Formats: sequence, C-alpha cells, structure tokens
Amino acid sequence: MEFGKVLHGGDYNPEQWLDCPEVLQEDIELMKKARVNCVTLGVFSWAVLEPSEGEYRLGWLEEIIDRLYENGIYTVLATPTGGMPHWLTSRYPETMQVREDGGRNLPGRRHNFCYTSVKMREKTRQIDQKLAQMAGKHPGILMWHISNEMGGNFSDSACHCEQCQQAFREWLRERYGTLEALNKAWWTVFWSHVYTDWEQIHSPVPRGECLLHGLNLDWHRFVTHQMTDFLKWEIASVREYSALPATSNFMFFFKPLDYFKMQKELDVVSWDSYPAWHKRKDEVPVAVKAAAYHSMMRSMKKAPFMLMESVPSMVNWRENNPLKRPGMHMLSSMQAVAHGSNTVQYFQWRKGRGAFEKFHGAVLDHKNGENTRTFRDVAGVGERLEKLDTLIRQSCNQPKAAMIFDWENWWALEDSTGPRLDMDYQKVFLQHYRAFWEAGIDVDIISMDEELEGYRLVTAPLNYLYKKGYAKKVEQYVKNGGIYITTYWSGIVDETDLCFTGEHPLRKALGIRQEEIDAPSEEFSNCVVYQGKEYPAGRFCEVVYAETAKAAAVYEKDFYKGMPAISENHYGEGTVCYLAAEFGQELLNAFYGECLKQAGLENPLAAKLPYGVTVSERKGETNLIFLQNYNEKTVEVEGSGSYKEADTGREWQGRIEMEPFECKVLVKK
Ligand code: GLA
Ligand code: ZN
Repeated sequence: MEFGKVLHGGDYNPEQWLDCPEVLQEDIELMKKARVNCVTLGVFSWAVLEPSEGEYRLGWLEEIIDRLYENGIYTVLATPTGGMPHWLTSRYPETMQVREDGGRNLPGRRHNFCYTSVKMREKTRQIDQKLAQMAGKHPGILMWHISNEMGGNFSDSACHCEQCQQAFREWLRERYGTLEALNKAWWTVFWSHVYTDWEQIHSPVPRGECLLHGLNLDWHRFVTHQMTDFLKWEIASVREYSALPATSNFMFFFKPLDYFKMQKELDVVSWDSYPAWHKRKDEVPVAVKAAAYHSMMRSMKKAPFMLMESVPSMVNWRENNPLKRPGMHMLSSMQAVAHGSNTVQYFQWRKGRGAFEKFHGAVLDHKNGENTRTFRDVAGVGERLEKLDTLIRQSCNQPKAAMIFDWENWWALEDSTGPRLDMDYQKVFLQHYRAFWEAGIDVDIISMDEELEGYRLVTAPLNYLYKKGYAKKVEQYVKNGGIYITTYWSGIVDETDLCFTGEHPLRKALGIRQEEIDAPSEEFSNCVVYQGKEYPAGRFCEVVYAETAKAAAVYEKDFYKGMPAISENHYGEGTVCYLAAEFGQELLNAFYGECLKQAGLENPLAAKLPYGVTVSERKGETNLIFLQNYNEKTVEVEGSGSYKEADTGREWQGRIEMEPFECKVLVKK
C-alpha cells in the first residue's frame, strides 16, 4: 500500500473537546510542529456520531477532517464498533457477547459485540454506510480502519450466545457433511460422547464439554471464521460508497484469532505494538519479541505494513509503567521501520482528562503543550522519517529464511494433554527466532499454508500438527535443495488432532524413526556435546533412531545415552535437521549459526554482532541497513566495508560506533 509518504501520526479522539475549540486549534498547530501528517479518527466515536438510534451527527467529524486536510494532515477513518453506545446495548442486549459461563455481558467496556448478532450487523451497516458516504467524497481520507483490535476483549474473545451456537453448528455441518464424519474426526466414542443430533453440539465451556480436543480446535477455527465474517461485513458495508483500502489493527501473536486467515480480507496489515521496554536491564528479550511480531505482520502480505499504534511514552496498564529512556522512542519506532513498517503511529495524540486511559502516554500530556521530552522525541521521529521518506518507500525486507508459525498448530499443541502441561509454543518459537535476531538475519514468519520455495532455509519448531499436504510440500522443498529444520514433538497429529499412525509423515526426509518422548523433571535433565562443547538438554528428550540421518550430537546420559539428539539427513538436493530435545539459547545460536553457513546466509554487514545489537535490511534500488543497539551503552561493531548514514551523511569505515539505544540507517558505499 502506497500513501505517497511515510505516515507519522496516530489516534486522535477530538470528540472529547468539541466544546473547547481552542484545544482543537492548538492540536493542529502542534501536529504540524510534531511533523504529524496523518491521524486516525473515529475509533470510539459511535455515541457522538449517532447519539440516539437513527439520529446521525457527522458534521463535527467532517469539519475536523476538512481542517486537518487544509493543514496537510490526512485521516485514517475508523468504523466505530470497538465501543458500543448505551442506546444500542440497552435496547438490543443481544448485540452483546455471552461469556463461557453462559451469562451475557453488561454494557460498557469495549469490544463487547456479538459478531453473529443480526441486529449488531444491521446497526453496524447503517453507521458504516453513513461514514462511507462522507468518506467517499473526501480527498483527506486515506483508508478505513475497521473496528479496533478485534477480539481484544473480556476473557476468551468468543461469544457463546445462541446465535453463535447455531452458526457454529452450521459451520460444522459445512465442514463435515455428516455427524458420522464429525464423530470420527473428534474421536467422540471415547467416554461415550457420540453426537446423535447437531443440536447437541455446544461451544467448549468450563461447565460443559471442554476436553474434546477436536471440538476445541474447531471452535477456535470457527471463532476466527466468524470474526472474519464480521470484518468482511463491515468492509462490504463501507465499500458500497467508498473504494478506499481497508485495514484492521492486529495485536501481537494473539492466540484467539488466526491472523493469517483474517489478513486475507485486508488491503494492508496494521498492528499495535507495546513492547515492555525497561522491564529488565537486558532489553534483548523484549526487542526479540517486538521484532518477531513486526516480522510476522510484514510476512502476511510480504509487503510493508503499518505500525498503527505505539506509545510515545508510557502505557498505563502494566503493573509498573516505566518511561521510555532517552533514545528508546526513536529506536523502538525505527525498529518497526527496519522490519518493514511504512508508518509510525501512536496511541494517542492527546491525553483525555478522565476515564480509563487518562494516564496512558500520549504525544500531548495534560500540561506543558509542546514543551515536553515526549513531544520533542515524537517530533524527532517525524523529522527523521521525512528525511528517509523515499528511501523507505522504495524498499522492503526480502528474507531468504523463514520460520513456520501456525495458529492451528498453536491451539492444538497447547490444548492437548501430555507429554507436559506447560507447553509454550510462543516461548519456544521466540527462542528459535532469537538465534536469527542475534545473527542479524531477517526471517519471514509464515503459516503452514505458505509456499516454501524461494527460501534457502525454513525452520518449524514444535510443529505438532500437520495440515493436509504439508508434509508433501516440505518433502518437495527439501528435494529441490532447501534446508528444513524441525524439532521434537513434530508431525504428531493431523488437522483434527488425531494422531498419525504408522510412521511420521516426514520419516524419509528426516531419516529418523521417532519412538518415545521423555519429559524429564529438572533433576533428570540431560546434556549433549555439540561441536566439542557441552550443552544442557531437558524438558523434552525424544528418543529417536537414526535411519539414514547422521547424528550431530547425542544424549550423554540416561538409558537413551548415545542416541541422536541433533541429526542431519541429506535428502534429494537438500538437508533436514532434527532437534530431538529442547535446548537453551546458547546451543540454538551455535546450531543455527551452522545452518546459516550451510545456507550461505550472512547479515548485511557480514559482521559478528556484539550482544544486544542486531541488523535488518530493506532491499530496493538502494538497500537500507538498519543497525540497532539495544544496549544502554556505547558499543562498537566491526563491519567490513564502508557505509554512509542515509539521513546524516556521516561515513563509517570498518568500525561503526553505536550510541546507547541508537539505530543507524546505513547505505553501503
Ligand atoms: C490498544 C487500543 C487503544 C488503546 C491502547 C492503550 O492498542 O487499540 O485504543 O486502548 O491499547 O495501550
Ligand atoms: Zn454471539
């Protein structure tokens, strides 16, 4: 998506000051000073846009959009379904969600709507169309921001009302055709829970059936399907009057919704990033997590994404909320750009005086106007983005390595009981991702449905569930020369969480035979020797037999001493590596270091990076190298070659000095 400039701005909620015109006047003046070129309007404006049912008041909004536009500031226009007005919820309670315990939510809070409710859809369509009639005519509006953080809600993000139950049953009927097929897929004969009527099926809830893994998995899929259906409904509603592109702001790896599926309905992916900076002195784990989220958002469309929200100072919803230390605002903003964002936007422009977010950071505080550190930080980012504007817009990351992250795998893996109860897909995934981050290698984060061709290396940690056709695709990829890495507890079940029988679907390519898996407690932890160095191995130790594979490391203890813990198998033109045990970061770094060498991948500086420093690259006519220092101290990076800083023109030869929390944007000379 190309907006003609890198966007800088954020959520703006002026309806809180309609009775204070001087505030709105000041906002525009200060936006210009902060180099804000775009705001998001209307995210929670329903009650002001439609104060009572059918009474529409859009004049104030249109006037603000006009005035912003006259001043060179564009609008991202939101549909207001994130917050529901009281006239709606009190007159039509069925528009609100029913929780797992069967109780209907009361009005208030937000993201509270039932995505199946016919009434909710009707009311949504009406307000969305009013907005679209206005937006369709307005040159100041860039795009649609559909609802807000869909599913970001009370408990499990799902609605369990009767309309949703019916929709679930219909969705299942479509998927399975017959009850017989469903019973088979869910293995319901176990514990005598064979369904004999579709009406007997109920969403998984704690006071009812919630131990049937196939049911749970399909419910997760249905929730994504139904929420996406609501998203489609809103997009279709505005499309009747406006051809503008649409997005909806995602959140991190948000377990309730499969973003890989939802994103297909969007023209551009956007998301809200709130890393927990300064939680510990070591910022690396937080930086790694944020980098992974950014990478996934880019990978969805293999195109630049939007950083729709970020906080210019502190949030208000963590146990303790540290201020961003000097340098961190710039670094954090540039990190998003480094991974493919073409925008830096905030929540929010001005702090409200009351209610839940009155102490949440904003560009403008309650006092002091532009005379704050936060304001200067924000203006600094705006200035830098202006300098880099064309270079950013002509480039995007093009990784040669990919990681598989898949929601269906996530749901199934963590829902199943055994061999441990504390399965944590995200944690393990991030450990593997961190090995790339520390090496300064960009990766795409893709689902099992994506093409693998074109990547030199693909890794799939904890890939428990195999979707139909996945094993075949991997086999082909490896035959054609790809390097594929996977771990213990992979290829265990099919799409309905039924265990594979016979052999591992990738047995030939892996060159091993999986037999048992040990989940030892800490005292029984094992270890391996890899390239002459000893490393711990624990939590999961799979007992596998090498068939055609060679062991690169073996267990050093216990009854499976001497059996392969890391194996490598040449298959076709490619290689498959198998990590049979859970390892710590140190071994993962060493192991992936080898794999990267084999794949012929090195970071754009061709340098070994000091701790806390990473690099990523946006490729284009001019390649941009984003060198980032997450240490609160000066460090030196040994780079081979000469570089110029794209925004300051400063030149570096061989050795690059990095200030605390600095991000340099380098171009190779
Ligand atoms: C989310 C929401 C915003 C705001 C911020 C606060 O991202 O979309 O409306 O509540 O959180 O951090
Ligand atoms: Zn419902």
